Amino acid sequence: MKVTVLGAAGGIGQALTLLLKNQLPVNSILSLYDIAPITPGIAVDLSHIPTSVKVKGFTGKDIMPTLYGSDIVLIAAGVARKPGLDRNDLFKFNASIICNLVTQIIKICPETLIAIITNPINSTVAIAAEVLKKAGVYNKNKLFGITTLDSIRSNTFVAKLKDKQPQNITVPVIGGHSGLTILPLLSQIPNIIFTEEEITNLTKSIQNAGTEVVKAKAGGGSATLSMGEAAARFTLSLVYALQGASNIIEYAYVDATEKDGKYKYAPFFAQPILLDKDGIAERKDLGILSSYEQEILQKMLKVLNKDIALGKDYVNSLFL
Ligand SMILES: NC(=O)c1ccc[n+]([C@@H]2O[C@H](COP(=O)([O-])OP(=O)(O)OC[C@H]3O[C@@H](n4cnc5c(N)ncnc54)[C@H](O)[C@@H]3O)[C@@H](O)[C@H]2O)c1
Repeated sequence: MKVTVLGAAGGIGQALTLLLKNQLPVNSILSLYDIAPITPGIAVDLSHIPTSVKVKGFTGKDIMPTLYGSDIVLIAAGVARKPGLDRNDLFKFNASIICNLVTQIIKICPETLIAIITNPINSTVAIAAEVLKKAGVYNKNKLFGITTLDSIRSNTFVAKLKDKQPQNITVPVIGGHSGLTILPLLSQIPNIIFTEEEITNLTKSIQNAGTEVVKAKAGGGSATLSMGEAAARFTLSLVYALQGASNIIEYAYVDATEKDGKYKYAPFFAQPILLDKDGIAERKDLGILSSYEQEILQKMLKVLNKDIALGKDYVNSLFL
């Protein structure tokens, strides 16, 4: 199993690769790439941790050895938020980075699973899909936007409010990965009843949790450690599914179109997916939504569809 992390020297990249060095299956290869020259050094540093996972680190123009033979490529490369910037403000920096990296992936390992961390997720996943489509190698079951952080934050916040153990709570989170488009389905948590006020406040704090971290870090970046954990959890689910484990279900922002190109809510949508050795085996039903959740779902669609169109149009403008 070869897992490659692009943007490996960043805040998320370093937390994520540390977790993967410790948790990937025996004899896996962990391949790091970043434009930061420190990257080979990060690999040497990690390599001193006594696990059988082999770590290699690359920087510079030639990304080929990093990507060659990858089963999973995680993209955390790009600019992160600072106070006053929302995720969409990152588009102008990160759109071209995603385009360039996905173009390299297409040349070297077009069959790999690609999981994107780089914001704005609502648009960067659409960009990646469009670049893959233009190259004729798009497989909608192999591209993911990682939204696991929204889920683990929700689990933590619900557990705190209701005095439960966070590891025993699983909150489904659907939609997208910015503000209003993040929709926790609190009505689907078994055996927990909320007041209307609790639902409104919790939903808002889950939607604003990223901004809370950005503010608290006072200009020093956005969520890196909790995101490293979230990305590691999602990656391990992909790894186990590739190895043949059954019944692996995750929530992720994925292509939601049917064969005829039609979709229920938006062309990309965070939803429950069943994973197998080929990527997404099945897009699962969202289940029953409360009237409050349905209201937010309808409100988010304009934003989500606009974010997706922005990504698609960006790639199309490059190919004119
Ligand atoms: N999906 C999520 O839930 C989630 C959560 C938090 C942050 N993020 C996003 O993840 C991204 C990374 O965040 P971070 O805090 O690690 O940022 P960071 O600035 O600490 O690290 C980004 C890294 O990307 C590298 N980089 C830039 N351009 C590159 C390129 N062309 N090729 C390879 N590497 C390149 C930089 O050198 C840097 O090391 C940001 O876009 C951020 O908004 C996503």
